[in-house]
Amino acid sequence: MKKQVLTGIKPTGRIHLGNYIGAIKPALQLAENQSYNTAYFVADYHGLTKIHDGHEMKELSYGVAAAWLALGLNPDRAIFYRQSDVPEIFELSWILSCFAPKGLMNRAHAYKSMVEENHFAGREVDAGVNMGLFTYPILMAADILLFQTELVPVGKDQIQHVEIARDIAENFNKLYGETFILPEYVIQEETSVLPGLDGRKMSKSYNNTIPLFEEPKKLQKLINKIKTDSSPPEEPKDPETSVLFSLYKEFATSDQVEEMRRRFQEGIGWGEAKKELFQVMNSFIEKPRSKYEELMASPHMLDVILQNGAKKAREKTIPFMKEIKRKIGIYH
Ligand code: ADP
Ligand code: TRP
Repeated sequence: MKKQVLTGIKPTGRIHLGNYIGAIKPALQLAENQSYNTAYFVADYHGLTKIHDGHEMKELSYGVAAAWLALGLNPDRAIFYRQSDVPEIFELSWILSCFAPKGLMNRAHAYKSMVEENHFAGREVDAGVNMGLFTYPILMAADILLFQTELVPVGKDQIQHVEIARDIAENFNKLYGETFILPEYVIQEETSVLPGLDGRKMSKSYNNTIPLFEEPKKLQKLINKIKTDSSPPEEPKDPETSVLFSLYKEFATSDQVEEMRRRFQEGIGWGEAKKELFQVMNSFIEKPRSKYEELMASPHMLDVILQNGAKKAREKTIPFMKEIKRKIGIYH
């Protein structure tokens, strides 16, 4: 039996380099490997915890779908769908919520950090928290468990969510017998956190991202904004602590990386290093960028691809859902 791999990206902003390096690139590598079944999706109902504008939701969802495809996802190989097109996920989400201790949700990091932020700002602790945000990990557990997923490729910030899915699955299995497979996360250790323009984790929440499909002029401008120190060009520089170098590594060939390492150690001007970074990044992005623009211009095509994916997904989820309902004593 092939192992099932699954991951989702929520449409809460434009896809940036961190998303690509931390989540999409490793997921695509797994999709190429014949020993796995892969399921990748647009987590639009997770996005609804934050995006409350219909037009924006639609555009951002297409954006995530187009990004996967432009970067090389083959929808004939992987099951590729929109979460909201697979209703069994939401049915399972309710069932799982009846096996998820509330205390476990209190400790989930997205909720916990909102509470802490409110506390320090002197606000009521639950200010601005909707129930979707609070139960976010349960919906994510449903995404994962419904596909009998064994491996979940994600960035480090999602580890806790995968552990919560395991806990909920164990609770259910203890009561009803072996039903759900316990999932494991897969982390890309070396590139687990890609730094943003200011050196902190690249994240939509910090406004420090480089959108993956940025047009060349803007891309160059953003790269120029990356924070560097005031050391003169001829001073030797440590490649290992440089944001420019860690970005460069992701897009250059290994020969280019070695050459750049040498130039850092001998002394290179920041302006020069930025130019080189732009060169490798832009030539990597050129093709996917035009594919992305093409797809964004034909949303109907994206709909067809996603709906076909949902059909394939439901060939798995409908029978499994029946089995789950039989176990808990809900018959039709
Ligand atoms: P953001 O922090 O920008 O809101 P998301 O939470 O939507 O990003 O993350 C989508 C996926 O991309 C997750 O698997 C996440 O771990 C990964 N990811 C996000 N930012 C980074 C980063 N800077 N480095 C590595 N992986 C990242
Ligand atoms: N919570 C994930 C994120 O913010 C997105 C997501 C939703 C997901 N459901 C998932 C990731 C299932 C992996 C598996 O990035």
